Amino acid sequence: MKKPPTFRFWTIVLTLVLIYALVKWGIPALSREITGMPFPLTVPGTLMFIYMLLTIIALFLLVTFSEEHLAEFLYPIQRFLRGEYGRTTRTLGLVIVPALIGWQVYDVTIPKVQQPSSLRIQHPSSNFPKKNEDLKNPFASPSDAEVDAFIEQAQANEVGFIPQLEADLDSWAEYTEPDHMLEAIPTAPMRAFLRELGAASVNRDSARAALMEKHLFEGRALYSMNCRPCHGDSVAGDGPMADGFKLRPINFTDNGTIETIVEGYTFWRVSNGGPGLPTEATPWDSAMPVWKLNLSEEERWKIILAEYDLAQKTPRIPESH
Ligand code: HEC
Repeated sequence: MKKPPTFRFWTIVLTLVLIYALVKWGIPALSREITGMPFPLTVPGTLMFIYMLLTIIALFLLVTFSEEHLAEFLYPIQRFLRGEYGRTTRTLGLVIVPALIGWQVYDVTIPKVQQPSSLRIQHPSSNFPKKNEDLKNPFASPSDAEVDAFIEQAQANEVGFIPQLEADLDSWAEYTEPDHMLEAIPTAPMRAFLRELGAASVNRDSARAALMEKHLFEGRALYSMNCRPCHGDSVAGDGPMADGFKLRPINFTDNGTIETIVEGYTFWRVSNGGPGLPTEATPWDSAMPVWKLNLSEEERWKIILAEYDLAQKTPRIPESH
């Protein structure tokens, strides 16, 4: 009998290897080329399964197309099993192939310790106390009475600042000898208010704007003292300590952070920090401190006022409004 050629067997093996390599490495490489992203798109395991299954079916049809094709395909296998390639080759083959398959099965079935791959929920809404939703920043819109009290204090040059600023303001005053302590806040609305105060014709609107400037001034100072190391001067989450955290401090200028939440939620997040987040926000327990332990409610609200202002964002309006 004429010996059938062995190339059909090897074509089949080579085709399988080639298709596998194309799906495994070709598609990711191509995806990188097309998207221009610095990482390849992953090929889902199911896609690989489908491709390989289709390939095997196609090759099966090819091999069983005729008696000769089948004989050609089986010929090297039969020779191998008869020991015609050497007894050692056969023994090795009969040990290595089952061992490889066994190892593969073992590898797939053995339970593994893996990092959970669930996505972190940036704004977990469960456990968020609903009563917080309607909380308003008490410094965002001062009442007429508060504005009037402020005008009175300003007229007497007795505006009180937060204690954290006292030492700095005192040394500033000693050095510059200002006519009025509010000159420490050299912004346009404050200057306008001080001019009106000098001319003894104070307008409540400019006084309100000046009072806002004072709150922002204090908020910014508290922000620098407490939040800047992580969230940065630019409030872009790039403070000097930021690189040290796996879960980076939030960039407040980014759309999708503080802009998408109502201010009561921001207050809750700042008060409870990373440890106060509900379980669905883990496993990325963040370094964000629990600020209610160190800052009074007023201080937290002033910081939040400054935080939105620095980021040039406005909080989301609650749905019920
Ligand atoms: C030790 C570093 C650190 C300090 C200090 C810090 N933060 Fe954070 N902050 C983080 C990290 C990390 C995150 C992101 C992780 C998270 O969502 O819990 C975060 C998240 C936040 C968020 C959530 C934003 C969002 O969109 O969900 C707010 C608001 C915030 N910080 C405000 C503040 C304020 C205000 C201060 C100062 C009183 C402050 N942080 C100080 C590390 C810090």
